[in-house]
Amino acid sequence: MTDILAEVADQVLTITLNRPAKKNALTPGMYTDLNHRLAEAAGDFGIRAVVITGAGSAFTAGNDIMDFMNTPPSGEDSPVMQFLATIHNFPKPLIAAVHGNAVGIGTTMLMHCDLVYAAPDSKFAMPFVSLGLVPEAGSSLIFPKLVGHVKASEIFLTGRNFSATEALEMKLINGIEELPLAKAVEMAKVIAEQPPEAVINSKALLKSADHEAITAVMRVEGELFGMALQSDEAATAFMKFLAKKQKG
Ligand code: COA
Repeated sequence: MTDILAEVADQVLTITLNRPAKKNALTPGMYTDLNHRLAEAAGDFGIRAVVITGAGSAFTAGNDIMDFMNTPPSGEDSPVMQFLATIHNFPKPLIAAVHGNAVGIGTTMLMHCDLVYAAPDSKFAMPFVSLGLVPEAGSSLIFPKLVGHVKASEIFLTGRNFSATEALEMKLINGIEELPLAKAVEMAKVIAEQPPEAVINSKALLKSADHEAITAVMRVEGELFGMALQSDEAATAFMKFLAKKQKG
């Protein structure tokens, strides 16, 4: 059993986050595997688009909180920071199929995807502040640009969930689908049949205006996030998560 599954069909690579017992919470090993898979896909002429989805009842519950406590990521070489850089710079179309919980990086990674489909039961959240942390993955720049400052402040500063309907209104997702994976694969196959260089160059053009600014903000977020992970506020929030778990 591996926590990351990868399958190629019709020039589309489908990556499945496969740790369903933990709601696909992401570990350093999973980020490392994702980084390898995406690097291979970037260099493989036979892969034209990548779909990312989650096994079981959730897309992903975000970074593994035990890992945040026991082995906090430090610096740009850490697997999670490498993963963020990888998706920010990924040259081919990245398409997400979301269902259930998409927490933390489970929502922020969508801001680096080119198309996103979500099931009606999807529940998005970026509870960084509630955890004593700060937004990551460039979301402190990308999200307010998408939804406006006051909406972004409401979501980030309260840490509240939002639904698929709200995500659609925010333009975070393309559509609400009963079968988001089927839709994502269908769209990936349509794109896979397009002239590949034109697809890659067009994606780069679509991303170019903000690319450098996002790189810069990700660096600042990374530094603040690393410091916040060591803070009393984060320690208290993580202990609260553990206490809830122990109570069952
Ligand atoms: N890190 C580590 N373990 C996690 C996890 C995470 N981010 N999210 C869920 N899990 C584990 C739970 O501890 C539980 O493990 P257990 O069965 O050994 O007790 C299992 O996954 C199932 O989660 P549970 O909380 O029982 O499911 P739920 O459906 O009641 O709630 C969530 C789902 C996602 C709302 C809830 O698990 C949650 O809030 N997780 C934390 C999300 C988070 O804060 N992520 C970090 C963002 S920066």
